[in-house]
Amino acid sequence: MRYLKNAWYVAAISREIKQGELLSRKLFDQKMIFYRTSAGRPVAMMDRCPHRFAPLSMGRVEGDEVVCHYHGLKFDCTGSCTHNPHGDGKIPNRAVVTTYPTVERFGLVWLWAGEPEAADPDTIPPYEAIDDGPETGVGYGYIKMECNYELIADNVMDLSHVDFIHGPLIYTGGNLAPQKPAFSDHGDSVVTGWNWVQQQPMGLFNDFLPQPDTPARHFVQVTWRAPCNMVVHVGATQEDGNGYDEALESRDHHMMTPETEYSTHYFMVSRRNYLVDNAEYNEGKINGMMQAFLEEDAPVVAAIQKEMGDLTIDEMRPAYLAGDPGPVLCRKKLARLIDREIDEGIMATA
Ligand code: FES
Ligand SMILES: [Fe+2]
Repeated sequence: MRYLKNAWYVAAISREIKQGELLSRKLFDQKMIFYRTSAGRPVAMMDRCPHRFAPLSMGRVEGDEVVCHYHGLKFDCTGSCTHNPHGDGKIPNRAVVTTYPTVERFGLVWLWAGEPEAADPDTIPPYEAIDDGPETGVGYGYIKMECNYELIADNVMDLSHVDFIHGPLIYTGGNLAPQKPAFSDHGDSVVTGWNWVQQQPMGLFNDFLPQPDTPARHFVQVTWRAPCNMVVHVGATQEDGNGYDEALESRDHHMMTPETEYSTHYFMVSRRNYLVDNAEYNEGKINGMMQAFLEEDAPVVAAIQKEMGDLTIDEMRPAYLAGDPGPVLCRKKLARLIDREIDEGIMATA
């Protein structure tokens, strides 16, 4: 499958990876296992024993090591075999499991998909906003999408679809589609956005505005960063003038990691600036948003993927609308980065 190798991808939400337990997940067509050492470090390893290729996910964690279910080889968190219960106990040279560089940041476990020596934690997206505030002001979600990861980037980059397919929670009242959104190119990122006045404010904010059910100014800014990490910064205010000093805001981080060519792990982290100490609201908000993605976005992008089969978007020759230049630019940028890696012979970790 086609994806950028030398890049950080979200492999899991931190809470999904636990000490003493194996999490099994496929990324980039490769089955992997994840666990946490006694020191708390997340480990990512290929899900295949080098002996007879039994999935290590059928085995178990013992201390900081993984034990193969089939003939008992043991591997440490670097993938080296530490114990062979057979014969004279000598460790064969080939008894090594591929491991992947990981970094835990912003409540997420990031995995480097390319050349291990090129893995620079400073190139993890600058999502410090996630950590800015109490735990009750940030929600984490995950769903699986049955489509190529770039279709989700198209969906998030062109929010005109919100006018048509979404319910009251992220209601935009038909205000986005009539606009021709400006977008700006910042090298490895692209930014686009919309501003509008909405007679009935967006469901996320309405009840907490000074005057619910009366008009409010809204904004949304979307930032895409290669390969497929995005932030949707959305807010509403009823203050005078053009500013957003008193705006209720949500910064929604959408991070897409390919599972296969036609399925994607969709991670979401939503940090808001209102009701930040309300744990119950926090849970309801992230659950409501994930439900909207699952019930409103997921079916349409999965159906699109079926229509496209194995053709690319260019081969399908789509008709373009006002909201399309942003997504088209993101696709072009990613294509250029991937082509450059292919030219340079950059390989996946495994
Ligand atoms: S397949 Fe793992 S030890 Fe034999
Ligand atoms: Fe959507």
